[in-house]
Amino acid sequence: MDRFDDYNDIADRLADHARGGTTDSAPGVMRVPASYYLNPELWKVEVERIFKRLPLLLAFTGELRQPGRYKAMKVVGVPVVMIRGRDGVVRAFMNVCRHRGARVMEEGSGKCVRMVCPYHAWAYDDRGSLVKVADPEKFGDFDADGEGLTELPCAEVAGLILVTLTPGAAIDVDAWLGGFRAELEKLEMDKWVVVASQQLETANWKLAHDGYVDGYHIGSLHPKTIAVFSQSNVLTYDAFGPHQRIGFAHHDILPATGKPAAERKLNDGLTVIRTLFPHVSFAVRHGEGGVVSQLFPGDRYDRSVTTQVFLAARAPETDEEKAMFGMRTKMLHDVVKDEDYKTVDGVQEGLASGAIPDVIFGRNEIGNQRLHRWIAYYSQENPDPADKPEL
Ligand code: FES
Ligand SMILES: [Fe+2]
Repeated sequence: MDRFDDYNDIADRLADHARGGTTDSAPGVMRVPASYYLNPELWKVEVERIFKRLPLLLAFTGELRQPGRYKAMKVVGVPVVMIRGRDGVVRAFMNVCRHRGARVMEEGSGKCVRMVCPYHAWAYDDRGSLVKVADPEKFGDFDADGEGLTELPCAEVAGLILVTLTPGAAIDVDAWLGGFRAELEKLEMDKWVVVASQQLETANWKLAHDGYVDGYHIGSLHPKTIAVFSQSNVLTYDAFGPHQRIGFAHHDILPATGKPAAERKLNDGLTVIRTLFPHVSFAVRHGEGGVVSQLFPGDRYDRSVTTQVFLAARAPETDEEKAMFGMRTKMLHDVVKDEDYKTVDGVQEGLASGAIPDVIFGRNEIGNQRLHRWIAYYSQENPDPADKPEL
């Protein structure tokens, strides 16, 4: 199969749905108690068992392209630094000095030869090994050999840097991504550059996430923006374990798919959004780029932070290209903030009011149903592979 034939398959399925007044569906309606979004204890369990145990997308190949490039950030309270070594391998460490625990690298990104702690100038190489203790004679009896930063499991695949926040765990990329790996690889994100990023805050991370897998709200919530080109509630859903690929029909899906296969252009008549469990949405197109949204729990159960990262197959060069890019980033910021997240903040308040006992996901909201089944699965202390959600 040509690697893009599946776009035609998705487009054909969307065209069938558009003609027949249907959409991909779950077998039944699903109810989730309102407390699911309100319980601080449950939220802590999700942070510990989902965000600290599963691989998270923390950086892109394009951000750490050359040896010495690093990125430091805090993820669910854990200070992390990633750096590409002279051997070409990206490694991740807890950004905590072996001496007395200071943050070694300021949050942000840059390039360095050694990672030097600002507190007392201890230095680490690109493998996290402690290579310099300042004034060692005065410091006294301490063997730096074998000492260093605490390493975190890290893997680079399809242009993505995946990190697990549990030292000593391993990332088995094939087991974790399964068939989704090919989905990600065909986008060729490893060749892309990161042009810009911005952050948005909203309510509980699951409430924020709900909006990324739901195509039911496009016409009602985004009439002047996304609905200008996209139909509402005409969708395909494909699951790759907990990861999803969602096809959204555009208004021109029928003329787009009416053309002979050889004349069809990639992405004509549809948008494909992919979600990487538990926290990323990719609204990107092969050969172009797009926006990747990383969702992180905030410092309370009812807050979350989203980083929108704008990637491009080719960095904008001319003033006109830069202006266009700037307009798109502002548009995406404003749509998500003023339409999606404003609504999501209202949902958090609404659920906290006690007005409704549960929320109801329709058969058409199959992406949400899948998401919450997988969250429930991974929230268990010891998820049993025999009990993986089947939907
Ligand atoms: S805490 Fe880092 S050198 Fe002292
Ligand atoms: Fe939306």
